[in-house]
Amino acid sequence: MLRSADCGSLRGDNAGSQVTLAGWVGRRRDHGGIIFIDLRDRSGSVQVVFNPENAADATRIAEEVRGEWVVQVKGTVNRRPAGSENPAIATGDVEVMATELTVLNRSLTPPFYIEEDADADESLRLRYRYLDLRRPPMLRNLTLRHNVVKYIRDFLSDRDFLEIETPILIKSTPEGARDFLVPSRMQPGKFYALPQSPQQMKQLLMVAGIERYFQIARCFRDEDLRADRQLEFTQLDLEMSFVEEDDILDLTEELYTGMIETVAPEKKLRKPFPRITYDEAMERFASDKPDLRFGLEMTDVSELAGETEFMVFLSTVEGGGQVKGFVVPGQAQFVTGQVKELEDTAKAAGAAGLAYIRYRGSNPVGQLTEEEILQSAGLRMPAEWHQRLADKMGAGPGDMILLMAGRQPRLNAWLSVMRTHVSELLELTDPNELAFCFVTKFPLFEWNEDAERWDSSHHPFTSPEDGQEPALDGEHLGDIKSKAYDLVCNGSELASGSIRIHNRQLQEKIFAILGHSKEETESRFGPILEAFEYGAPPHGGIAPGIDRLVAILCNSPSIRDVIAFPKTQSGTDLLFDAPTSVAQSQLDELSIQITEQPD
Ligand code: AMO
Repeated sequence: MLRSADCGSLRGDNAGSQVTLAGWVGRRRDHGGIIFIDLRDRSGSVQVVFNPENAADATRIAEEVRGEWVVQVKGTVNRRPAGSENPAIATGDVEVMATELTVLNRSLTPPFYIEEDADADESLRLRYRYLDLRRPPMLRNLTLRHNVVKYIRDFLSDRDFLEIETPILIKSTPEGARDFLVPSRMQPGKFYALPQSPQQMKQLLMVAGIERYFQIARCFRDEDLRADRQLEFTQLDLEMSFVEEDDILDLTEELYTGMIETVAPEKKLRKPFPRITYDEAMERFASDKPDLRFGLEMTDVSELAGETEFMVFLSTVEGGGQVKGFVVPGQAQFVTGQVKELEDTAKAAGAAGLAYIRYRGSNPVGQLTEEEILQSAGLRMPAEWHQRLADKMGAGPGDMILLMAGRQPRLNAWLSVMRTHVSELLELTDPNELAFCFVTKFPLFEWNEDAERWDSSHHPFTSPEDGQEPALDGEHLGDIKSKAYDLVCNGSELASGSIRIHNRQLQEKIFAILGHSKEETESRFGPILEAFEYGAPPHGGIAPGIDRLVAILCNSPSIRDVIAFPKTQSGTDLLFDAPTSVAQSQLDELSIQITEQPD
């Protein structure tokens, strides 16, 4: 070993011991001939002192070294003189009096400082990711990620799960995104797809009698990227046989609770996780991924809105839409600028506008006079109507009511944007608080307006709720509920799963409703349909996204911060410069012709 101790491990107790350290040079200061270097390795950093009086050679070399050079230091651990301790770092009570210094490698001047806070542009950090990852916060993120995955492996192994790898070169399995295709050299003109998830394979493992499977699985989806989406990401993929929905949810809750209390004990975790149905989530929070850290719950006031002469409300209600909104407690005094911001947000979300009512004054609602109610345009209603509205919504003096009108599902989408916006404006959330919930009983299908067809809300392998099968032959497919569930935390979807179909006829029926012809169903899903005829057990599972969970635990706004080598928003790997063109010879080998040259 090139060292006898880790820089970050030294404490007052080590005073007097001889150590050999190795690491990177951080800050270097020259105090009248005495040189101080912060020496950093993965464990942390420690101050090293070079005094020309007792280590002339080492001090001469220390004058030369620069930031990020790799050095080996031999010396004695000393307590720092009283008053010069540094409580900000773990090794702040000590320093190492150097006797020898060896340069193991030099470094160019890095394009940004390797420090706690990154002031460099993210693209520069990604271009030099190996330097960015030297920064302590990035190291902490990767360490936490390791701890999460280790906890998962131990937890599931203790419960008789088998970790099984499934192939990366497969035939397409649908999760609603585009596939990444891989051309086959040996079979020209044919392609593998990269798995969007190991969905069909884990179900086949259940048919195979594995009963409890998990995998830390890489998934690939060619979709537009956002802060919480990457082209390739990691799932804890798991599946169990002979279980019902609550068994999967109980296991998931136990896993998350134990994991978070172990790897991130500083988090304020709300327990137990509420389980709410999709319908309830949409009604109360206008979202299937509600942030439960704050209230701002919705009320449907369509009936009252229908009594007004406000055209937008009237025509919406008459046209089968809804008027719905929420109370912002104590914010009647929202200033004009803030209201304008709310209106802009509503419009940016696609809504025609936002109606708002300020309940001013300190009188109890029952005594509000018309003058005390400042109304937004078009809502000139008597105080009695406002009273009923306030009662229905639970509003009182000093509160502000926000209302929107429209048809579902768009109305809920707009309201959800408004709810989040108001929570940000009022700083209602604490990033250290974790409010999980399960959302259950998702619709089995959702109408795809662009393609004019039914799509699966989750995926086609999801089982309908018990007793709903006859409805598959009816006209109200949108009303059919499924055994699909999500795990949501702080407004973000962290996991999805379902109890699956394990019967060929039912599965074929679903494919038919989704618009697949018999031939297409057979060619795309033949093997799983066939497997269902060889004793498929009842089974179900879930797939928590690891990147999103770790990002929440690290308080990172983007999952890029918890992935060692992520891609940019445009899907580029800035470090390796991928994707790139390839040599003509490689294309020839794959029988591929490029019809459009890149810019
Ligand atoms: P689903 O498609 O909902 O379900 O994905 C499950 C979880 O994976 C994470 N996730 C992503 N994370 C980062 N980048 C992405 N592009 C991305 N897409 C999804 C999310 C999501 O909740 N096979 C089913 C699961 C099952 O039914 O068991 C599936 O993949 O955290």
